[in-house]
Amino acid sequence: MITEKEILHALSHVQEPDLHKDLVTLNMIKDIQINDLNIEFTIVLTTPACPLKGKIERDCVAAIHQYVNDKAVVKVHMSSNVSSTRQDKFVLPGVRNIVAVISGKGGVGKSTIASNLAMALSLSGAKVGVLDADIYGPSQALMFGLQGEQPYMEEVDGKSMMIPLEKHGVKVMSVAFLLKPDQAVAWRGPMVSSALKQFVSDVSWGELDYLIVDMPPGTGDVHLTLLQTTPLTGVVAVTTPQEVALADAQKAIAMLSMVPVKIPVLGVVENMSWFTPVELPDNKYFIFGEGGGEKLANLSSSSLLAKIPLYMGIMKGADTGEPAALQQDSPYGKIYSQLAQAVAQQVAIVNGKTSSASA
Ligand SMILES: Nc1ncnc2c1ncn2[C@@H]1O[C@H](COP(=O)(O)OP(=O)(O)OP(=O)(O)O)[C@@H](O)[C@H]1O
Ligand SMILES: [Mg+2]
Repeated sequence: MITEKEILHALSHVQEPDLHKDLVTLNMIKDIQINDLNIEFTIVLTTPACPLKGKIERDCVAAIHQYVNDKAVVKVHMSSNVSSTRQDKFVLPGVRNIVAVISGKGGVGKSTIASNLAMALSLSGAKVGVLDADIYGPSQALMFGLQGEQPYMEEVDGKSMMIPLEKHGVKVMSVAFLLKPDQAVAWRGPMVSSALKQFVSDVSWGELDYLIVDMPPGTGDVHLTLLQTTPLTGVVAVTTPQEVALADAQKAIAMLSMVPVKIPVLGVVENMSWFTPVELPDNKYFIFGEGGGEKLANLSSSSLLAKIPLYMGIMKGADTGEPAALQQDSPYGKIYSQLAQAVAQQVAIVNGKTSSASA
């Protein structure tokens, strides 16, 4: 008769590839059931967007065959409990991880990436929100097709809070919802800082695994306020392949060191990497040059999470309020799905490091 202890012993030989500890030590094995040679258990992953699910499952089956019984019939179930190491829950309570999408240069695709990253994480099964922090040029209402809508207010713990709008399962909040279509934001100077703080703290997100923050372009006071106000898990830096964008992205990363807490760079996304015409599918035209993503990843000691070519579908999706990531079988749908996995993986690694440092 196979025992639970034998199974746990076998699984203690399986490493979580990113966290470099075994699954038993990480408390990832639940609900072991044994019926003669039939073994079932659940692996609780740190994110539903785990890119290594397949490898972990194969390693578990192999370990049981090696250490318990080579004739065992193993059935592995997967669930997830998204990790978080946030200490203070004063701002954005219930939000496990906050990831800001930054760039120095404007127009490189931050907002498009933020909406599609959020969409792809949500499609993987995570609870996701998008905070449009670009108060002067908000885009997320358009990108999720929510123009003209208004959030409603609700009393939460005796305080009047805004409830984000929801589209395709993603919660969205933007200053655009608080303005009339032809109204510009008139916040100036010191007012911006306090208005932004209030905007961030007056939204009731409920439980979220990931809140994606779409940052404004540049490196001004608004950015500093946002970096100080939102307890970020990390940032994703966006650049296009050319030198100018790269230099600006470096400035945006340098800003991270101006706040007292260390904000990790989860990685770099190179956007508009090349263009391939439909009629010449094997040709790549490097319209904006080459190499910016790799360089920025090197300079920021992080990794290149994705290279996203120019696609009409991405642009159309952004303009029609249907994020391109929804087309999961399209080439760009696959790229966004991989990007979501890579970001979720980096968040889990950052959380793994933080929790072992404080243990
Ligand atoms: N990979 C892509 N393929 C096609 N079009 C893209 C791609 N990425 C972004 N775009 C388009 O480029 C334009 C600029 O993108 P976006 O608004 O996301 O940039 P941004 O960095 O947020 O700009 P800003 O600095 O003004 O906030 C949009 O029209 C968007 O649809
Ligand atoms: Mg933008």
